[in-house]
Amino acid sequence: MELNNDTYRMIRLVRRPHGLPERADFAVTEEPVPEPGPGQVLIRNTWMSIDPLMRVRMDERTGVGHVPPFRLGQPLDGSAVGRVVASRSARFAPGDVVLNHGAWQEMLLCDAGEGGWFDPMRVEVPDGLDERHYLGVLGVSGLTAYVGLRHIGAVAPGETVYVSAAGGAVGGVAAQLAVAWGHQVVASAGSADKVRRALEEYGVHAAFNHRDGEVSALLAAAAPGGIDVYYDNVGGDHLEAALDCLRPGGRVVLCGQVSSVGSATGPRGPRNLMQAIFKGVRLEGFMVRHHARHWPAYLQEARDLMARGRLTLEETTYDGLDAAPDAIVAMLSGRTAGKVTVRL
Ligand SMILES: NC(=O)c1ccc[n+]([C@@H]2O[C@H](COP(=O)([O-])OP(=O)(O)OC[C@H]3O[C@@H](n4cnc5c(N)ncnc54)[C@H](OP(=O)(O)O)[C@@H]3O)[C@@H](O)[C@H]2O)c1
Repeated sequence: MELNNDTYRMIRLVRRPHGLPERADFAVTEEPVPEPGPGQVLIRNTWMSIDPLMRVRMDERTGVGHVPPFRLGQPLDGSAVGRVVASRSARFAPGDVVLNHGAWQEMLLCDAGEGGWFDPMRVEVPDGLDERHYLGVLGVSGLTAYVGLRHIGAVAPGETVYVSAAGGAVGGVAAQLAVAWGHQVVASAGSADKVRRALEEYGVHAAFNHRDGEVSALLAAAAPGGIDVYYDNVGGDHLEAALDCLRPGGRVVLCGQVSSVGSATGPRGPRNLMQAIFKGVRLEGFMVRHHARHWPAYLQEARDLMARGRLTLEETTYDGLDAAPDAIVAMLSGRTAGKVTVRL
């Protein structure tokens, strides 16, 4: 389908996937470019993020009121970054680079809003960086890592931190922040290459490939003295292993359960939750959008660490809107590394 100046394309969910999404679950449609009304902006998106939550929201029953499912026939959404092409709001001018909620759409018409989580947010792109970094290391993935470690896990000096899915976006930043803050860090990921990168480039002290055996045995070997904080991106067998390994008074940062996302067998809960009672372990979940007030502190710290070469993030990029369904399947299957984005 040819894109011209009068139209743009979006991807709609037309069938709810079972397990990993298939091409036939999506339809690409061509839409006329709209005109902004009073208080609105029109954005041409340049990059969109790929996130596990997108697959969660393809299910009919997701967050029971807190995280609404995508509606059949409607475009999907999520984090994107782009440039304002027309504005009828004093808050934005053409050319502004804005984070927005219009993933899966080449253009987005939306209210300028008042600075809420789902409203467009102007960002400054520092020299040497690209606007897509506001989807990863400087974006929601990075903020999630920071909020989880600092404010939910409340990591204290001298503590040992275990981060799962450390070859991915959130886990990659969480592992590096924990190293930069002086903690002993144990990481896990799903390939030898991701494990090597965590050790050699992120500077973690021990790491294992979760596909090499039982996670409980692998974690016990990697952290013989135990752990104080578990940054949980995976759930299931990883959470169970961490509960066995946590020291008394430990914390679990419940960030995500990617092992059950799109799983045909459904989520698997830990069988050893009693360990949390015996050891006085606190498990706390969070949604990053409720912690947006920490953006300025995170951005300052992240830019400083990046300038000193202490924070980086591998990336996997795809080209063109049509690649987005393949990108989400590849990410959920562990075939991508670092932050996954699609150039629109
Ligand atoms: N609470 C919040 O507000 C919030 C915000 C953003 C993200 N999250 C959560 O944070 C987690 C990470 O998100 P992300 O965007 O950074 O994704 P990501 O880690 O970049 O990508 C997901 C990775 O999870 C791993 N994985 C998939 N199935 C697995 C399994 N059965 N066991 C172990 N690992 C598995 C795969 O890597 P391997 O090769 O390592 O297996 C895969 O590449 C997700 O759970 C997501 O839902 C939460």
